[in-house]
Amino acid sequence: MKRLAILVSGRGSNFEAIARAIREGRLDARISLVLSNRADAKALETAASFGLPHHCLPSQGVATDEWARQAVDLLTPLDIDLICLAGFMRRVGQPLLDAFAGRILNIHPSLLPAFPGLDVQQQALDYGVKFSGCTVHFVDAGLDTGPIVAQASVPVLDSDTAQTLAARILVEEHRIYYQAIALVLSGRYRIEGRRVRPA
Ligand code: GAR
Repeated sequence: MKRLAILVSGRGSNFEAIARAIREGRLDARISLVLSNRADAKALETAASFGLPHHCLPSQGVATDEWARQAVDLLTPLDIDLICLAGFMRRVGQPLLDAFAGRILNIHPSLLPAFPGLDVQQQALDYGVKFSGCTVHFVDAGLDTGPIVAQASVPVLDSDTAQTLAARILVEEHRIYYQAIALVLSGRYRIEGRRVRPA
């Protein structure tokens, strides 16, 4: 069975959606480690409640590449097939990119390439877009720039705040992330330029 590592920093609702998909037989995989860069991440409690292996590697005051080296040391013996960033609010670092080339996915709450980075829903409201959404993409050295595996759109309503828009997008995140993971784990895709296509 394919092995996942889930990298988290906070609430962990995307991690939980993946864990539920596995538990309910919608995703054929195993979570070998939930790795947080913050000790106070709620995702760690959720991992414990699911009986899943979890660990904190604090990142405060640790250089990005040094953190990545420590993460590689933890993950390499676990024979991880795919790393899934799920609300991981830090750059992953070159050592992780090198060790897991083409095997790291991220979910981002906008229709990339619009609105990379942080405060994404506020960026979307400030720009005045009528639709936003979420993107699952491979992670490369750029900021939210890797090839796109899946996207889903939602309308932006006149009455929206960043919070109401985030909640509408989150429903779609939970729906598409495990499906994108299943596609990548199946290996039935090829990357042509920036395009991820069925193989
Ligand atoms: C999600 O909306 C995710 O897309 C976003 O953080 C939230 C985490 O929620 N990720 C990023 O912005 C990454 N740049 P969760 O912890 O409940 O999954």
